[in-house]
Amino acid sequence: MEYKEIEEDVKKQLSEFRFTHSLGVAKKAVELAKIYGVDEEIAKKVGIAHDVAKEMTDEEMLEYVKENNIPIDEIEKVKISLLHGKIGADIAGKKYGFTKDMQDAIIWHTTGRENMSMLEKIIYVSDKTEENRKGNRFNVEKSRKMSKENIDETLIFLMDELIAYNIDKNAIIHPKTIEARNYLLLNR
Ligand SMILES: [Fe+2]
Ligand SMILES: [Fe+2]
Repeated sequence: MEYKEIEEDVKKQLSEFRFTHSLGVAKKAVELAKIYGVDEEIAKKVGIAHDVAKEMTDEEMLEYVKENNIPIDEIEKVKISLLHGKIGADIAGKKYGFTKDMQDAIIWHTTGRENMSMLEKIIYVSDKTEENRKGNRFNVEKSRKMSKENIDETLIFLMDELIAYNIDKNAIIHPKTIEARNYLLLNR
């Protein structure tokens, strides 16, 4: 599907707030795609679609994974909203014709994983550093600047922030995030 058509469909699924965030992610993904040598059109499509499932209710998400035979892990059973990655990827594959690589970038934008592809890294970082993101949860000033210089260091920084935030809140940390961060540190 063409970018414009995807954008129009995504707009129908999301609130204005989330759609604006998605436009920001698409824009940031293009910026990073240029720097890190990824197809800009692909980055833009994945960016606009990454949160397409984000505003489904917990009930809708659980029903969707059941009907579409999407496996769910122990942590997703508790933090149901994490499933918007897997579900969004499934929707984007079926509705927008996304390839496996594009779907993977949607799946892993929530937790990261070991040995991420450049497209996966771009979407992960764009999600946290796009221009509309407010507040200091991901230290946006610093991470925005970093993202243009070294994407792996940006990922480590963002994961550190996320892990620290979750510890502070006494919240669960997905092991995939730990695995992603360890892999980046080992290959620094
Ligand atoms: Fe998301
Ligand atoms: Fe997002």
